[in-house]
Amino acid sequence: MKIDILTLFPESFAPFRESIISRAQKAGTIEINFINIRDFSNDKHKKCDDAPFGGGAGMLMSVQPVYDAVKSVLTEKSKVIFPTPAGKIYNSEKARELASEQHLIFICGHYEGIDERLIQLFNAEELTIGDYVLTGGEIPTMVIVDSLLRFVPGVLKQESLSEESFTNGLLEYPQYTRPQVFNGLAVPNVLLSGNHAEIYKWREQASKQKTIRNRPDLLKGDENDEN
Ligand code: ADE
Repeated sequence: MKIDILTLFPESFAPFRESIISRAQKAGTIEINFINIRDFSNDKHKKCDDAPFGGGAGMLMSVQPVYDAVKSVLTEKSKVIFPTPAGKIYNSEKARELASEQHLIFICGHYEGIDERLIQLFNAEELTIGDYVLTGGEIPTMVIVDSLLRFVPGVLKQESLSEESFTNGLLEYPQYTRPQVFNGLAVPNVLLSGNHAEIYKWREQASKQKTIRNRPDLLKGDENDEN
């Protein structure tokens, strides 16, 4: 898989570069490139923002540099992603779907966003990572790329994936490590029993309880199934 990240601030990916690139390299099949949109600006001052037609607060990213930056990496196999608070909800299911693509291009938006025609021209998928507004598309891009790479074969051990939150529609069960008693709180006995069938049952039950407590919305589908 190849991932091209188009951004006005490639340096903001510095911490991400370390961890994600080494993880990607371990998988052996992933290439990640950072492309500076400003390098594509035809403006003599390399300007990359412009006022929106119709007025309103703030500026948009200029169309030309974004268009040319996308064109420089686009092939018929590419899927273009535009992280935006106005997008569809990004979740684990979408992460799995994106992980099977051959080439992803991320446009990191800034200012008030991008010209709608860029979304149309590149058939870009608009995705939001949650109902809040961040100052740019770099952090959402890091979130999306980090989470989808987990589903690229070879990046993670398979068992880490099968037991983590969202894989089976439930949150992950609680985990404990040494010591057996900490600040007066003991590890549940069953986890010390060595009885794998009982441990499995306990974890399933504890997963359900945690999901009811923290994310009852995830169980709504189950209720509907019974009706
Ligand atoms: N850009 C700014 N806020 C965002 C969000 N919540 N999700 C995706 N992209 C964004």
